[in-house]
Amino acid sequence: MVETRPEQAQGAGGVHSLDHFALSVPDLEAARAFYRAFGLDVHDSGGGLELRAFGQDHVWARIGEGPRKKLEYVSFGAYAPDLPTFAARLRALGVAPAAAPAGVGDEGLWFHDPAGTRLQIRAAAKSSPDEKRSAIIPTAYNADRACPYRDARPKVRPVGLSHALFFQPDMGEAIAFYTQVLGLRLSDDAGPVAFLHGVHGSEHHLIAFAQSEGIGYHHSAWAVTSIEQVGLGAAQMAEAGRARGWGLGRHVLGSNYFHYVQDPWGSYAEYSFDIDYIPRGHDWAGGHPDPENSFYLWGPPPPEDFTYNHEAAAG
Ligand SMILES: [Fe+2]
Repeated sequence: MVETRPEQAQGAGGVHSLDHFALSVPDLEAARAFYRAFGLDVHDSGGGLELRAFGQDHVWARIGEGPRKKLEYVSFGAYAPDLPTFAARLRALGVAPAAAPAGVGDEGLWFHDPAGTRLQIRAAAKSSPDEKRSAIIPTAYNADRACPYRDARPKVRPVGLSHALFFQPDMGEAIAFYTQVLGLRLSDDAGPVAFLHGVHGSEHHLIAFAQSEGIGYHHSAWAVTSIEQVGLGAAQMAEAGRARGWGLGRHVLGSNYFHYVQDPWGSYAEYSFDIDYIPRGHDWAGGHPDPENSFYLWGPPPPEDFTYNHEAAAG
């Protein structure tokens, strides 16, 4: 575990990573099948599931069983010396400590954001990338054909969690809380959608918010290493019975190429490639573009219910 922070970041007092998130769903086997088909390494743990990228130990998501799909909590990683700073900010705002969920250790700080999303800040190794992820271009010249036959095409396996998007009922209140308490920075604010990055070097967004009538989980985005993999991922999910989604396209804010696959509960898992990177110390010039001019550069029109909040509707 990394217990120290880089010297140039002393006093920054910001979380460095989206460590993991936790959902409950009504059918664990459906979740296992969905995320396995998506290309993640799914493990059993404590009566639930853990999602990892193949070849890595880091747990990016925990999925338990519950009566309906629900965001249980969001865990952020921070440098250990910064934990007292976060605790002091929470005390100053009068934010009460929260209990850790049943079966989850109570390390670090547990609390709720103003809308009621349960959060954890824990001392953890920085799991967000320290530089822009490398791309693998599959068409470098060689003497053979670049494209495999269909029956030899590779299975897509994301290399890690890029970001997640959560519903928030009050965008201004959420942005204020996550920037002032967790030390995240606003990357871009498009009104009903806003994006936040980490001060210790992170992709354009560790988390994003979408305006809704309540809280909830909209999507998680998993990094792949080429546009080819975004397309192959969409195809492998269609073959697994998960053709419904949105893509292939390119976002303006974040610049990433995307394909979203709808999960069995109406939320999404996104294959994401080539998202913008904001290095530590870089003063990102964010904007306030209107959504029509910044949602996506090209791609098919999104599904009409793309931002429907199934959790708020059920709640
Ligand atoms: Fe995304």
